[in-house]
Amino acid sequence: MQIKLIALEDTQQIAVKIAKALQPGTVICLVGDLGAGKTTFTQYLCEALGVTEYVTSPTFNLMNTYTGQLNNAPIDIYHFDVYRIFDEDELIEIGFDEFLFGKGISIVEWANQVPSLLPDKRIWIDLYFNDKGERIMTLQGVSIE
Ligand SMILES: Nc1ncnc2c1ncn2[C@@H]1O[C@H](COP(=O)(O)OP(=O)(O)OP(=O)(O)O)[C@@H](O)[C@H]1O
Ligand SMILES: [Mg+2]
Repeated sequence: MQIKLIALEDTQQIAVKIAKALQPGTVICLVGDLGAGKTTFTQYLCEALGVTEYVTSPTFNLMNTYTGQLNNAPIDIYHFDVYRIFDEDELIEIGFDEFLFGKGISIVEWANQVPSLLPDKRIWIDLYFNDKGERIMTLQGVSIE
């Protein structure tokens, strides 16, 4: 599925829809062009999950954690940005595995950097600019209406 994101509201709308399709343990991989909107999508997804804190990019600390709500129960949200990771051991050291295979929702910006650490079952979201400079989102592993 491919969606054109003209404005922030488009990202918000899709985030709300995806939030409804999540289950405990879902891993969301975000890949694509620099500045195409991975963190923005994460912010709207967290908002849709009831996170009231300000969500920022964890570029320097690798992971931020938030608490949201899913199916009327609290859910942990782990937001990773692995842009600067070139050695997967660095992530293993912080317990990446346990988070990804745990009961929370994991969101991984630049997931393509750490292919061997990702579960096969995942939502894969590619955000990029087409040749007209428009933001495009492609979605795999999740169905939304
Ligand atoms: N759908 C959209 N419409 C208009 N502007 C957008 C949209 N999505 C994101 N932006 C803007 O693009 C800029 C970069 O967004 P963002 O930081 O989310 O990208 P990113 O993919 O996380 O970047 P990085 O590759 O550095 O992690 C921000 O100023 C954001 O407001
Ligand atoms: Mg980002």
